[in-house]
Amino acid sequence: MARASQIAFLAGFGAACAFIAAAVGGVIGADPVQDLQLATRYTARASFLLFLAAFGASTLHRLARTSWSAWLLERRRGLGLAFAVAHLIHLGFIVSYLTVSKTPAPMVTVWLGGAGYVAVVLMAATSSDWAVRTLGPATWRRLHAIGGWYVWLVFLASYAKRSPTQPAFSAAVAALLLIAVAKVVLARSTTPRTAAA
Ligand code: HEM
Repeated sequence: MARASQIAFLAGFGAACAFIAAAVGGVIGADPVQDLQLATRYTARASFLLFLAAFGASTLHRLARTSWSAWLLERRRGLGLAFAVAHLIHLGFIVSYLTVSKTPAPMVTVWLGGAGYVAVVLMAATSSDWAVRTLGPATWRRLHAIGGWYVWLVFLASYAKRSPTQPAFSAAVAALLLIAVAKVVLARSTTPRTAAA
């Protein structure tokens, strides 16, 4: 498959994941407000899995060096877009749920989560060779590193907050921490050390 159509396919895959997740929430919910609340939660879960795949692809490949980790790495840009699409659908459900349930969102969620969306949109908008050339590889890498780690942090905060009452979310926290540790260790092991004076 050509690269552009592969990326379009994966972005569509992100949308499909989010809509399937939302539909499951709608089927399980007992009333319209609960339908929307579950759709909000499940779309976040679908986008979380896509985020893990995109954010962890290069780390996984450096550790595993298998054909499937190479497959994932090759499609990292498309997976990043799939995550962005799924996460924007999550935003649509957030707005619908908060509006229909008349629940005010805590200001800290609006600002910190809102900044996460700014990062998602900036990364998605610069997911092209043209953007790499225009921004320059160093600036582009910095933008995607800062954006990726910021979204990582929002996911970590969201799931760490829920873990005490919903222990299954500890698995999400563990996955996020594992990726972070692996990234830091790999970065330290490849950073050239300056010779001691
Ligand atoms: C990058 C930004 C964001 C990330 C990574 C994120 C992540 C998450 C996660 C992981 C969940 C839990 C889903 C689950 O139960 O598995 C969630 C739920 C939710 N988020 Fe976000 N979120 C973001 C931005 C926002 C913003 C800006 C708002 C509101 C202004 C918001 C409102 C909500 C609401 C209302 C829920 C459902 C709460 C519940 O009933 O459990 N989120 N989000």
